[in-house]
Amino acid sequence: VLITGGGTGLGKKMAEVYSSMGANVTIASRKEEVLKKACDDIFKISRNEVHYKVLNLKNHDSVTKLVNEIDTIPDIVVNNAAGNFICRSEDLSYNGWNSILDIVLKGTIDMTLQMGKKMIDNKQPGVFVNISTTYANTGSGFVLPSAIAKAGCDNMTKSLAAEWGKYGIRLLSVAPGPIYTEGAFTRLDPTGDFQKKIIKKLPMGRLGEQEELANFLVYLISQNCNWLTGQIINF
Ligand code: HXC
Ligand code: NAP
Repeated sequence: VLITGGGTGLGKKMAEVYSSMGANVTIASRKEEVLKKACDDIFKISRNEVHYKVLNLKNHDSVTKLVNEIDTIPDIVVNNAAGNFICRSEDLSYNGWNSILDIVLKGTIDMTLQMGKKMIDNKQPGVFVNISTTYANTGSGFVLPSAIAKAGCDNMTKSLAAEWGKYGIRLLSVAPGPIYTEGAFTRLDPTGDFQKKIIKKLPMGRLGEQEELANFLVYLISQNCNWLTGQIINF
């Protein structure tokens, strides 16, 4: 299992859960120190070594390097890494919105096309799960670049599912509602006000938990789910 952005937040919890189930997990993102610590933290729980690769999704050569260097072609790729911040759209700089599109839209497509080609060339089936957001479908103020980028990735899920099913490659998007992570909530809810308001709108009356998302994906990525592809699933 390859998990981008697996050193923190939701990706780290997925890495912990899948490693504990016996999977061979590699996490990948920019910050080597964060990745190293995550591997150590997870090993203490799973007693199963987790590997890491330094990766900057903004950089095509960095994605190519990872795809070329990875020891085994993954059966499962979780495109979980993202960048986001809250900003009035009229105040966004060119570099600001472009940066989010580079990471979330172009980086996710780059990883998927390069790793997918490797799977196809090696006749290896696989699953890509793209972590989306519910606002990719509805739209949302103040996170325009992220909303656009995630919507593009959702379209990739559907388009490539149609094209790659014949290779045994499945693609799914999972769009979680709000789940507390430091990375997301310090950037998007610095005052804590959003959390208080959104809880009133959530049917279960609480935020989701990181482990609930990790557990949900277990079925989707398993061979018990081999006929499901091209879907955007709100969680
Ligand atoms: C306006 C901002 C900004 C902000 C950065 N920029 N933060 N503009 N408001 N809060 C602008 C910068 O000024 C710069 O433009 C441009 O964005 C690029 O900034 P860099 O710092 O050079 O980019 P980079 O190093 O690539 O960092 C990317 C990042 C950063 C997204 C800006 O926050 C990051 O590394 N994030 C990674 C983790 C993350 O975002 N996690 C949250 C995911 S949560 P100028 O013009 O000045 O050069 C998520 C949740 C969804 O997606 C749903 C929740 C319910
Ligand atoms: P997070 O902890 O901030 O995770 C984002 C990860 O992306 C970090 O580990 C970061 O690692 C990595 N990353 C950022 N830029 C990168 C780049 N250029 N190249 C490679 N990796 C990069 O936030 P999170 O809440 O766990 O978010 C995980 C995913 O869930 C994201 O796709 C997010 O949009 C989605 N999501 C979250 C929520 C929520 O409520 N938490 C809701 C809906 C969707 P480095 O800094 O080491 O690069």
